[in-house]
Amino acid sequence: MCGIVGYVGSKMATDVIMSGLSKLEYRGYDSAGVAINTGSDLVIRKYAGRLSVLEHELEKEPVEGSLGIGHTRWATHGAPSDVNSHPHSNMDDTIAVVHNGIIENYMQLKDDLIEKGYKFKSDTDTEVLAHLIDLYYEGDLFDAVHKVLGVVRGSYAIGAIAKGEPGKLVAARKDSPLIVGLGEGENFIASDIPALLNYTRDMYLIADGEMVELTKEGVKVYDSAKNLVGKEVMHVEWDVEAASKAGYEHFMLKEIHEQPKGITDTLEKRLDEKGFIKLDDIRLTKEQLEDISKVYVVACGTAYHAGLVGRYAIEKFVKIPVEVEIASEFRYRDPFVDDKTLVIIVSQSGETLDTLAALRHAKKKGARILSITNVVGSSIARESDDVFYTWAGPEIAVASTKAYTTQIVSFYMIALYMALKLGRMDEKEYKRIIEEIKLTSGKVQQIIDQDSKLVEIAKAIMDRQHGFFLGRGLDYNTAMEGSLKMKEVSYIHTEAFAAGELKHGSIALIEEGTPVIGIASQENLFEKIVSNMKEVKARGAFVVAIAQEGNTEVEKVADMVFYIPKVDSLLASILTVVPLQLIAYHVAVLKGCDVDKPRNLAKSVTVE
Ligand code: F6R
Repeated sequence: MCGIVGYVGSKMATDVIMSGLSKLEYRGYDSAGVAINTGSDLVIRKYAGRLSVLEHELEKEPVEGSLGIGHTRWATHGAPSDVNSHPHSNMDDTIAVVHNGIIENYMQLKDDLIEKGYKFKSDTDTEVLAHLIDLYYEGDLFDAVHKVLGVVRGSYAIGAIAKGEPGKLVAARKDSPLIVGLGEGENFIASDIPALLNYTRDMYLIADGEMVELTKEGVKVYDSAKNLVGKEVMHVEWDVEAASKAGYEHFMLKEIHEQPKGITDTLEKRLDEKGFIKLDDIRLTKEQLEDISKVYVVACGTAYHAGLVGRYAIEKFVKIPVEVEIASEFRYRDPFVDDKTLVIIVSQSGETLDTLAALRHAKKKGARILSITNVVGSSIARESDDVFYTWAGPEIAVASTKAYTTQIVSFYMIALYMALKLGRMDEKEYKRIIEEIKLTSGKVQQIIDQDSKLVEIAKAIMDRQHGFFLGRGLDYNTAMEGSLKMKEVSYIHTEAFAAGELKHGSIALIEEGTPVIGIASQENLFEKIVSNMKEVKARGAFVVAIAQEGNTEVEKVADMVFYIPKVDSLLASILTVVPLQLIAYHVAVLKGCDVDKPRNLAKSVTVE
């Protein structure tokens, strides 16, 4: 994980780097540091703790200079501490490096370097990079880094500077995100676009294996054989505002509130004037679709939960078998995937390493790859055969919310499109469902407008250590997502169960006052889930029900009820998750948790 920023120009480098790092803190936040070339020296400042610790130290004792690199860390090798923080340097502090990724052969490299007399200060894999650059350095940082990349194995986005080259920043990328920002008399590197939007909208997306040499006058990009690469400038249209809190107390709350817009945008961008879904850029012609015998959906975390809803939609509408698998498992199996398999990869960030590795695994086996992602130009988008972009806008809070609902909408659209093309759904039903999806945006807004009721539910359960989420059918998937949200932001241990399964063992955990949130949106399963709620109620549980308006029967069993607007059961997953997101959010706020940056987590998981 981790976030990196680098600057070369005429401004005070620490200002630019700190501004960039503040937008990247979601990538890791257990320590932070900068290295600045002052013209006569290389000064490194790095501290365990949040970015604010570094900020405070830099205010007390500023470092002047217009070339520098910075880093915000999510520890992989070596505990969070000052010494393990980045940048790392060689023995005489004349070379400094920031790194996002993992150097897999660092132990062997470290042993070799120690034998050559190098002394290590930290427990990190990254420090080998600093010493290796030192080993190969003959006055040209670019050449030295190029040589180093020939001996290291693993994943990296690197930024490096040298004391002896006060106008040069060198960067490289393999399997970890890296972009270059292009300015007037200044240039930048960063892990992600929002870090640079205060300074420039013109970017280069750096590809795997590429190296970059930046001076204030210009940027040169090379391939691994040191040939110059002609890059296309990407102009970023979206606003800095989209990546800021815009008056909300937390990004998570802002992003929950952005869901109606995300749903509408995701849908509208792909509807033609006659109301048909247009996927012209995605190669799913009738003939190609007829060739598909099976669909695999592969993702992690919340995106995996969206995939479970996607399975339901594709199986129901298209009548093709669908398997959904967690990327970190899929990539190490030998799944039945061939050139007749469509693999749908789901990833908000488009950078999750396990998901990317699963994509490559499936591609090697001949599968067609369609990805659903939120980030244009991300690694997953670039390596897929086709991409369906969600229009959620930048998601900054670590807990994913608006990406989830827009991923579900994307799945419905793909499924409807496939079903119509293959003649497995008539046009009337197709149009009816699209109209229903359009209405979900307003219905999500109605849920958000009743937030005060969800605060009351949060107050009722906030002091509990454990809890359960129950659901059947599509509601079971929502239960899993609701449980994940609660765990990650409020630190309450919750589990999700298929409601019918509870009595096969886990019901033993129910005791007086145990909160159980039952989701009851599926009309055909309503009575069944109500009886499951009765079972836990009879054993002392504090039952909270999420039901469709009008289904007042739940009031007889539940201690608290939240009604979602009436919706076709088929599409209820777009709605039912929203109260669960808000309950988790309010519990976290009431408990004083760090909502946008929960402990031990990072937004973009670019390590295995
Ligand atoms: C949970 C959450 C994670 C991500 C997962 C995949 O709120 O955000 O579970 O869903 O790490 O991330 P992406 O979608 O970026 O591949």
